[in-house]
Amino acid sequence: MSKGYFITGTGTGVGKTLVSCALLHAFAAQGKTAIGMKPVAAGCENGKWVDVELLAAASNVTAPREQINPYALVPPIAPHIAASRAGIDIDINIILQACLELEKIADVVIVEGVGGFLVPLNDHQDSADMAKALGLPVILVVGMQLGCLNHALLSAQAVRATGLPLVGWVANQIDFQMTALDENVSALTQRLGCPLLGVLPFEPNADTEKLSMLLNVAEMEAEA
Ligand SMILES: Nc1ncnc2c1ncn2[C@@H]1O[C@H](COP(=O)(O)OP(=O)(O)O)[C@@H](O)[C@H]1O
Ligand SMILES: [Mg+2]
Repeated sequence: MSKGYFITGTGTGVGKTLVSCALLHAFAAQGKTAIGMKPVAAGCENGKWVDVELLAAASNVTAPREQINPYALVPPIAPHIAASRAGIDIDINIILQACLELEKIADVVIVEGVGGFLVPLNDHQDSADMAKALGLPVILVVGMQLGCLNHALLSAQAVRATGLPLVGWVANQIDFQMTALDENVSALTQRLGCPLLGVLPFEPNADTEKLSMLLNVAEMEAEA
């Protein structure tokens, strides 16, 4: 059985952190130890990397910062550019070693990707290479907005091209004005070829522990 999941999304700001936190709570509710990992975080606000803080708060085990977030880049720009400006070369092997350490101390590791699935990490590797190295089943978070059908279908294709299993997708209602939400969810349910794990409503500052009840974790585990 897999020791974790890789959470990707149709882009940046689509709800990967929200879903990752909800999943951490869902596994905790099953009596498991669960820890979040953000291998590459880009964008420091007031000395803090928000994703890393939120994942740590939703985890029920703690680990050294360098394991939960091996790469913390200051500017909120594409990671390989931020890294290059800081004179850093992102090394996927360092990320893998950190993830293996987390797998030793928790039943489940929830790894939140950075940006969308094909975001470059350095001159020759991207986020898909990172997911492949970690070898975890993938969950796709779709930010429900105009254009998401194409983004979701392209992302699913890219995930499957790595050979990793796409074990589910989450419809996250990030645009409260989206028209034809239900038809868009149906279109993706028909075409993505993996289970819909849940539809998360538009809810600013949502309690991710409550949201976790809307996710069908059992179905995701059965697919993994
Ligand atoms: N269902 C939702 N309803 C309202 N706001 C949301 C929802 N999902 C995400 N957000 C907000 O949108 C922003 C981006 O979400 P986040 O989970 O950080 O995305 P990502 O990790 O993909 O960048 C955050 O401010 C978050 O609180
Ligand atoms: Mg995030």
